[in-house]
Order: sequence, then structure tokens, then C-alpha cells
Amino acid sequence: MAKNIYPVFDRIYDRKVKEEILRQSAKVIWFTGLSSSGKTTLASNLEKELFFRRFFCQVLDGDNIRAGINNNLGFSVEDRLENIRRIAEVSKLIINTGLITICSFISPTEEIRQMARNIIGENDFIEIFLNPPLEVCEQRDTKGLYKKARSGEIKDFTGISSPFEAPKHPDLEIDTSVTSIKDSVELIFNTIIDRITL
Ligand code: ADX
Repeated sequence: MAKNIYPVFDRIYDRKVKEEILRQSAKVIWFTGLSSSGKTTLASNLEKELFFRRFFCQVLDGDNIRAGINNNLGFSVEDRLENIRRIAEVSKLIINTGLITICSFISPTEEIRQMARNIIGENDFIEIFLNPPLEVCEQRDTKGLYKKARSGEIKDFTGISSPFEAPKHPDLEIDTSVTSIKDSVELIFNTIIDRITL
């Protein structure tokens, strides 16, 4: 715990006022799943759909965050934990502005996702597990990383040489190898609509 630090969270208009102005209930929509499982695609399609319906969002995405605020972190267990810890703290700041935050990170273990849930708060955390078979992700290989992982060029690659633990009780699970983008967005929208509506 930080010493000689006295955080104050109630000096400015609080979250409730901002949510009322934006006419929405701020939540974190947390995508988890293997690389190439569809997280980035569905995050941006969901943002578009929500914006069309006048819900305001901020997307946080693995590769973007790792190119910026987390550019000093790699893929060891400790670094992934720190990656997600910072992202969860940032997400909490964003939902305090009344915005819906869409997070797309592999977040491969129960421990990592539980930490995010604890930081953000159970009530504000909606977990969506994208669960196409590993073979399909590997076939897609959108960034050519599975190939590099198989050849040993990349170490600790999730699903190949580093574990992925399936979430036990996600709010929604989608196999993106059989569900279209459009249908996936609709499923997600139907799952979250009551919770993002004031
Ligand atoms: S997490 O495990 O810490 O949640 P995060 O979602 O931020 O991962 O980053 C994953 C992205 O980093 C992947 O989509 C991929 O582009 C890239 N990447 C590079 N090396 C690895 C690796 N060893 N394991 C997984 N992803 C990697």
C-alpha cells in the first residue's frame, strides 16, 4: 500500500451525475480469449453498434496499450499480471467518467481476471469469453504469431507455450468459429443492454 498518500474521490461531480448526463450506466465489457479469437474485431464492432444507439464508449485493446502505457512489459506471468492491473485501474478511471469501457485482452488466467474484477468491482465487470477452437485461431493467425510460436521464434505464446484457462462463469461465451460478427454483436448487446441502461 502506498505510504503518505491520501486519495480523495469525492471533490468533483461524481460518476452518477456524469452517467445521468450521458444517460447510460458505465460498465466494463471485458473480452477474454486467445490471440486471433476475435476480441479486437468484436470490440470495435460493438463500439460502433453502441455508438449508433447513443451509448458512449472507450475501447482499450492489447496491442495498442502494449505500444503505449505498457510498453515496458513482456509476456511473463508477472508482466501479464501487471499489464492487466494497470488496464483495470485505467478502466476504473474511465467508468468514473460515465463512459462504457470495452477491454480486449487475452487475460489468460483466473487469477488475472479475478484481479481485474476486484479492481473494477464485481458490479461493473461484464465478462465475455470468445472461445473458438485453438486450431481455428491458429489457422486465422491474423498476425503470423502462431507460426512464430510453433517455430520457437516467440516464447511463452498463449495457447502454445503459455497457458490459457477458460473462465468458469463468463456472462457470455461465443464460439466465433460458428457465430458471425453480426450475430455475436447482437448476442453481446442483448447480454449487456439491461446493465448499461440507467
Ligand atoms: S495479456 O496476456 O497480457 O492479456 P495482451 O492482450 O495484453 O496479453 O496482448 C496480447 C497481444 O500481444 C497478442 O494479440 C499478440 O498480438 C501479442 N503477443 C506478442 N507476444 C505474445 C505472447 N507471447 N503471447 C500472447 N500474445 C503475444
